[in-house]
Amino acid sequence: MYDKGKILTGLAVFVVFMTYPFWNNIGRAAYVKPELEKPRMAKECVENVEYMRAEHMAMLNEWRDEVVRNGMHEYHSSFTHQTYAKSLTKTCLKCHENKDKFCDKCHTSVAVSPYCWDCHVDPKGVKQ
Ligand code: HEC
Ligand code: HEC
Ligand code: HEC
Repeated sequence: MYDKGKILTGLAVFVVFMTYPFWNNIGRAAYVKPELEKPRMAKECVENVEYMRAEHMAMLNEWRDEVVRNGMHEYHSSFTHQTYAKSLTKTCLKCHENKDKFCDKCHTSVAVSPYCWDCHVDPKGVKQ
């Protein structure tokens, strides 16, 4: 006679194994933020951190449109009460000096890779 218990256990292990990429991705969707390099030259971002985490992609799109279409180069933050140039490299990467240890580290953990660097140059980095 065969051992029903063993077969079932075997089956369960097999199913978990085969669907592992799926489970692994669920873990990723609610991602664990990796250790990021903190800017040395500032304590605050252009907006509060929660907002930046959630909205930086939209913010960058907006900045680009305003610069390229409307020639509007200045961003006034009501959070820091400062004015910034609407620039990916001259503003974001000025504080976040190391794209690899900041932007990319986070993006890799959620499997996104913005195509911006096809054209924009990472001031410090190696073109990938
Ligand atoms: C004046 C310096 C400065 C500029 C300019 C700046 N940042 Fe930041 N940013 C910071 C600092 C400092 C923090 C960390 C704040 C904290 O932990 O309280 C931060 C945090 C962030 C975070 C959240 C990181 C986390 O821990 O989850 C994101 C995302 C981010 N910045 C993206 C950007 C982008 C995109 C731009 C350009 C639109 C930008 N930053 C411009 C200084 C800056
Ligand atoms: C705390 C984690 C985190 C940090 C730090 C971070 N990003 Fe992101 N970024 C994300 C996530 C998550 C997405 C995907 C959002 C989505 O798909 O809705 C994203 C998407 C983007 C996109 C849009 C990509 C696309 O294809 O739609 C751009 C552009 C971008 N990030 C730029 C930056 C830049 C520039 C920096 C560094 C200054 C940075 N991000 C730092 C988490 C981060
Ligand atoms: C096909 C080339 C190309 C790609 C890809 C590209 N850009 Fe640009 N971007 C440009 C050019 C050209 C300008 C105009 C430069 C200027 O006016 O100084 C510009 C301007 C900008 C500006 C305003 C000026 C500045 O100094 O940053 C922002 C912000 C910007 N792009 C963000 C992005 C983001 C975010 C991505 C990725 C999601 C991206 N761009 C992808 C070519 C590109």
